[in-house]
Amino acid sequence: MNSGYHSPVMLGECLRWLEIRPAGRYVDCTLGGGGHSAAILGLLGADGRLDSFDRDPEAIAAAKARIGDDPRWRAHRLPFAEMASVVEAGSADGVLMDLGISSHQVDAPERGFSFRRSSNVDLRMDQTSGEDAARWIARVGEEELKRALVENSDIRPAARAARALREAVERNGALAMDDVLAAARALGKGRVDDVAARILQAIRIEVNGEIDQLSRGLDAAHDLLRSGGRLVVMSYHSVEDRCVKRKMAERARDCVCPPGFPVCRCGGGRATARPLVRRPIVPSEEEMRANPRSRSAKLRVYEKL
Ligand SMILES: C[S@@+](CC[C@H](N)C(=O)[O-])C[C@H]1O[C@@H](n2cnc3c(N)ncnc32)[C@H](O)[C@@H]1O
Repeated sequence: MNSGYHSPVMLGECLRWLEIRPAGRYVDCTLGGGGHSAAILGLLGADGRLDSFDRDPEAIAAAKARIGDDPRWRAHRLPFAEMASVVEAGSADGVLMDLGISSHQVDAPERGFSFRRSSNVDLRMDQTSGEDAARWIARVGEEELKRALVENSDIRPAARAARALREAVERNGALAMDDVLAAARALGKGRVDDVAARILQAIRIEVNGEIDQLSRGLDAAHDLLRSGGRLVVMSYHSVEDRCVKRKMAERARDCVCPPGFPVCRCGGGRATARPLVRRPIVPSEEEMRANPRSRSAKLRVYEKL
């Protein structure tokens, strides 16, 4: 299923792990082009319900154009960390998170994610609010930028690239893709396009507050689920996956005593979730060939106790 906006990744696996019941209530935290949402609606009966979220107004518009009016569906333009404001706690049978950005966001040159050399680098998922990449760099400075390059994209050493980016922003009051490519060259190792993609990823994560959103979104998703409901999360890079893995492990832990306690004092039995897969699920070879952007996807799933 490909609307041209974005090809939904591991669609069959997501539907299977969500175990869609026709009269169930579901939440899609990351609507994008609506591929996963449309497929969930396809499995729901007249009594089923789906709430979908996206912070990007273009995604909401594209998905509405695709899905049309459907009394079982509500689309909310909201960051998913805030979904508890519209969905009742303990009410959802399944919550899906398909993290990161859509192909449309990457490909549309005016969105400032694209690889066109002279284009402005924006990197906001919602271009109607917040700081773009240049403003963020100008505000936080070189040290913070260096930290982001190291922590978010494992760019080491990051000092030269951080300096090149900061100087470009100071010089031009903006950040162009040419500046990102020059910073990637300044690093002096790896393929320039690959390094540039990792620089973009590192800055994008900060500009959109992605890790804070993810951490709060995972808490919100847990609260929305009923007992027996399922959380399915697909991540696309190691920083995201680490955060998902850690939260899932915390919830699966029976003992919550601080590490180092010689004996358990919390009484145990404190787990609130049961992981359903031991290792993350990845796309089939066939899917990776047909949709190279699916290559880095990792799917994790648990059931709320
Ligand atoms: C990988 S795409 C989802 C694609 C979608 N599953 C489909 O089938 O078309 C991720 C989407 O999530 C949105 N997004 C990312 N982080 C978000 C957040 N914290 N709150 C709301 N939407 C977010 C992005 O704007 C983007 O449209």
